[in-house]
Amino acid sequence: TKFRTSKPTQIPGLCFRTFNTSPQNNFHVAVLGASGGIGQPLGMLLKVNRLISKLTLYDLQHTMGVAADLSHIETPAKVKGFVGKDKLCEAIECANIVVIPAGLPRKPGMTRDDLFNKNASVVRDLVACVADTAPKALIGIITNPINAVIPIACEVLKKKCKLDPRRVFGITTLDIVRANTFVASLSGVSPLEVNVPVIGGHSPETIIPVFSRATPGVKVSEDKVKTLTKRIKEAGTEVVKAKAGTGSATLSMAYAAARFTNSLLRGLAGEKNVVESSYVQSDVVCDISYFATPLVLGKNGIEKNLGVGKLNKFEEDLVRKALPVLKKNIATGCKSESRYW
Ligand code: NAD
Ligand code: LMR
Repeated sequence: TKFRTSKPTQIPGLCFRTFNTSPQNNFHVAVLGASGGIGQPLGMLLKVNRLISKLTLYDLQHTMGVAADLSHIETPAKVKGFVGKDKLCEAIECANIVVIPAGLPRKPGMTRDDLFNKNASVVRDLVACVADTAPKALIGIITNPINAVIPIACEVLKKKCKLDPRRVFGITTLDIVRANTFVASLSGVSPLEVNVPVIGGHSPETIIPVFSRATPGVKVSEDKVKTLTKRIKEAGTEVVKAKAGTGSATLSMAYAAARFTNSLLRGLAGEKNVVESSYVQSDVVCDISYFATPLVLGKNGIEKNLGVGKLNKFEEDLVRKALPVLKKNIATGCKSESRYW
């Protein structure tokens, strides 16, 4: 199978005005961590999404100002801000989608894994409230380290007997966005046309671009594929270094999360053949319980996992190298969760 791309509505913003053919456009999206570097631009992109009628913004700080600001934008979504832990459940109640960018970002010299101790409990507590308040919501998690915090989220939901693995997503769209951008600038193909699948996880060892299955057929030499692969694997660090201690990717991540959320919304609205990749609970790779692959999205989240597909030797080697790292990250997430309960 060739991966289908859903490009026309992938660009968050004005395109939504012209391409919204869905019968339903009254979805409620909640953003948890809405005042942060990602949360604010993401809130803006969601405010201009015509599929959303209600946008609730939650954070421990500054949310009322962000909500007041966004509420003046001339689009239908009603915006409401919630600040402080005692308002969390109210912000989430009846949400169709909960997007979570809450948590600490990296500084130069840190790995994503270094964020685990701080961010694990943030994700645990937020997801526990989603389980209690909006158990049918689709949950998209941005918080790092993705490889380990998605297992935490699933364990929390499992303990509360609310786990539906079709509804929990680690948002890895930024890796695809980067792969598309970098390959387009190298090959001369428009970035709006190109679609490079990226599978695995979200860390240098586990991000696996699959150039052999890029569409349209991308002609880059073997050497260039190696260079591009390295750049995509390390692109997060490229931004962390450039920001020199002030944070990690926020604007490109907000774009990627808005694209991903829009795909979830289109699936919920009943659109057919909506495909996005994400890091999810999965059995597509032997002996590993979470893996990012392209997914068909529908009314209940994941309708079908399209799996890893055919890989060339170079890509197979990347998967082989990724598996032990991924396994360790998943075990860290699952183990830490069992300590909390
Ligand atoms: P930031 O520090 O600018 O913002 C984080 C926000 O989360 C802050 O407003 C903070 O108040 C809020 N917050 C912290 N704990 C909270 C809690 N318990 N409840 C509600 N809100 C809480 O950070 P950022 O740059 O927006 O990055 C956020 C996270 O996203 C980081 O973990 C970062 O590593 C991750 N990230 C992931 C990707 C990806 O590809 N998945 C890309 C970029 C960043
Ligand atoms: C990214 O890929 O940009 C994010 O995971 C943030 C980071 O820490 O690199």
